[in-house]
Amino acid sequence: MYRENEGRETSGAVGPAAGTAGRSAGRYGRFGGQYVAETLVEPLAELERAFVSCGQDAAFAAELARLLSTHVGRPTPLYFAAGLSAHAGGGRIYLKREDLTHTGAHKINNALGQGLLARFMGKTRLVADTGAGQHGVATATVARLLGLACTIYMGRVDMARQRSNVERMQLLGATVVPVDEGTATLKDAVAAALQDWTASFGHSHLLLGSVVGPHPFPAIVRHFQAVIGEEARRQILAAEARLPDEAIACVGGGSNAAGLFSAFLDDAAVRLFGVQAGGSGGVGSAALSCGRPGVLHGMETFVIQDAAGLVPATHSIAAGLDYPAVGPEHSHWKETGRVRYGTVDDGAALHAFRLLVQTEGIMPALESAHAVAAAVERARALGPDDVVLVGLSGRGEKDLRTVLYGDTDRGFGVPRVEDRSRARSSGDPR
Ligand SMILES: Cc1ncc(COP(=O)(O)O)c(C=O)c1O
Repeated sequence: MYRENEGRETSGAVGPAAGTAGRSAGRYGRFGGQYVAETLVEPLAELERAFVSCGQDAAFAAELARLLSTHVGRPTPLYFAAGLSAHAGGGRIYLKREDLTHTGAHKINNALGQGLLARFMGKTRLVADTGAGQHGVATATVARLLGLACTIYMGRVDMARQRSNVERMQLLGATVVPVDEGTATLKDAVAAALQDWTASFGHSHLLLGSVVGPHPFPAIVRHFQAVIGEEARRQILAAEARLPDEAIACVGGGSNAAGLFSAFLDDAAVRLFGVQAGGSGGVGSAALSCGRPGVLHGMETFVIQDAAGLVPATHSIAAGLDYPAVGPEHSHWKETGRVRYGTVDDGAALHAFRLLVQTEGIMPALESAHAVAAAVERARALGPDDVVLVGLSGRGEKDLRTVLYGDTDRGFGVPRVEDRSRARSSGDPR
């Protein structure tokens, strides 16, 4: 069941900032900023300068457009989901098919853009975090394409539950480094990637996978994901001769949602909904419903934390949503009310996965299934003249073991910690 902002959040004090105080650059209302150690201030400034230069470089834009078309497969289709709409029995549901991109999720849009940016800056190595493995696969793919070395940090729990994506990254020549710290999931992978970059920024680019982290990362990632919304807006106008009544997307860090929503922010009549993971019983990983403002991974944003400011273990059946924070712009949109946020739990996401298979012959990623579940509920409350646009962020092959053999993510024989050194080197065929 889709539940909107359950009201469990509290508006507590901002958590302690690591390193320098938050800078004014890259603020979204009171959120965002740049909470980093002094050593990273100049690398972030270099990145921002390069990003601005690329934006004025016609050759960069032409190369990005060429590869988005011929390598990634854009534009992705907008699909009228007649069977799903009939099942909901209300509004007409359209799916923006990011699942049909090369590598199977929206993550490739950002990975390609930032990969070209890294090459523009003369970097020779990409460093990235991954949760579901889709961003890792996308980054490893782009590294191959552009001839760059690649290291991916991934929590060991996520490596077990998304094993097929680990194998894909390794086949692509990436070094996959297991992360055992914390809960061995996405938050720990992001921290490990940031730590690597602190020591390697001279030749490496940190290719963050979502609209998170210190400025300018949230702005860069949103920019490269905006193509989702630009295309969807054109396509829905062509199909319906009007804008949708509602647009819905799942929110982990928030990049596919930011990309989709960015095209409709100024259209007040288009209602926007972000769907976070309700998990199963516990707190889930819905920072916007259960968190409060704090600082994590270099940004000020909503973070799930206890009274002492410690981040507890979070859970979602969808590894890509299992993150205790969220991009700072989403925190701003929550506060301004421009976007409404709610949750879908593990069981409802699994149900939506099977529902989309049955009604449309489409297997969504479990992350995307959260948006599908919410969309069915929203559509049910609307009439046949109403249009609901859903961001279908990725495809579900990576989740088959979870869907078929159990809804627990802890039961797939997570390798013991002693395996660490072997797992580290076996992923590097170079
Ligand atoms: C298919 C898919 N959808 C959604 C997400 C969540 O990321 P974001 O909120 O940045 O779109 C992920 C993350 O791995 C993903 O793989």
